[in-house]
Amino acid sequence: MADRLRFKETLMLLDPLKIRDLELPNRVVMAPMSQRSADQTGCANSWHLVHYGSRAVGGVGLVMIEDSAVSPEGRGHGGALGLYTDEQAAALAPIVEFCHQQGAKVGVQLGHTGRKAFADSDALNQVVGATGAPFNASSHQPHALTDEEIGDLVAAFGQAAARASQVGVDVIEIHASHGYLIHEFLSPLTNHRSGPYGGDPEANSRFLLDIVERVRAACGPGMPLFVRLAIDDLADGGWHADDAIPVINQLSRAGCDAIDAAAGGAVEGASSFEIPVDFRNLAAQVRERTGVPTIVAGGISSAEAAEAALAGSDCDLVAIGRLLLTNPFWVNSLKESTQAR
Ligand SMILES: Cc1cc2nc3c(=O)[nH]c(=O)nc-3n(C[C@H](O)[C@H](O)[C@H](O)COP(=O)(O)O)c2cc1C
Repeated sequence: MADRLRFKETLMLLDPLKIRDLELPNRVVMAPMSQRSADQTGCANSWHLVHYGSRAVGGVGLVMIEDSAVSPEGRGHGGALGLYTDEQAAALAPIVEFCHQQGAKVGVQLGHTGRKAFADSDALNQVVGATGAPFNASSHQPHALTDEEIGDLVAAFGQAAARASQVGVDVIEIHASHGYLIHEFLSPLTNHRSGPYGGDPEANSRFLLDIVERVRAACGPGMPLFVRLAIDDLADGGWHADDAIPVINQLSRAGCDAIDAAAGGAVEGASSFEIPVDFRNLAAQVRERTGVPTIVAGGISSAEAAEAALAGSDCDLVAIGRLLLTNPFWVNSLKESTQAR
């Protein structure tokens, strides 16, 4: 396939894209990938500078910094990044600056691991969840968040977004997948609350909608805001595309600019590593049924597959994970192939 692409004059992958005030140089997003390399205080270090910086040197249009917790107990493990202190934000600043110098834009994924936290560090003195039910037999018993604590977390997402914006981050992505805290609220398999944040579809989605509204207010009208959303729980009785679509329409009205389509992880045995998922199809459904731009993330392991997802109108951006781990300069090699013609 590399040969066929070599003789193609233009690739949609290399087209720029404007979202709000941001001009992305091409359609390739480096997928968020936790590095488990932060120090105990959740700060980035030289590992992150090299990890993200090399992909920026390699031509990626948008470098998405890994899942960064909005509160201490939101860190899933001792090596997780945080964005709940000014020191953590300051540690990101040189990474953002370096990536910008290479022509890349930078996003950061804001999240909270919820009941899936390993609590393997002093930083994690408490595991919290939508309810007191642990993820599985070897997970910690979470503290069920009170409505007031949920409100504090909504505010924490806004504060983390403001910190990111202050150090020059261009895009915010909210992590609402993988069975982490926001997804735990969305899924009827895991949200057994009553009251404002659970019990029916409207209440189950309130936490995410409140977060999107707060983050949009915190980062201003010019900054793109993405949501990595589980479109399907991959489990009977769970949340599926028909449930996600109305929520995506609400997210869009609240200021979300793109859906990064994901699936699974809410309950044991139902992750996308265990059950095959057609991510292109999920993203295409969202794009077609809501008109909201989408990102395909997962299983794109060649330029042909990435180009096909864009050309097939399944998505507007393609997120690449493991391929960029093995070849940080993949995008530049594509540019050279097309220019060599
Ligand atoms: C080492 C590693 C860490 C990951 N960490 C995150 C993360 O922080 N946030 C997230 O949403 N997904 C995370 N993912 C999932 C990736 O973003 C991506 O969706 C997945 O790897 C599938 O894309 P790929 O087939 O191109 O690798 C991670 C994946 C890997 C391999």
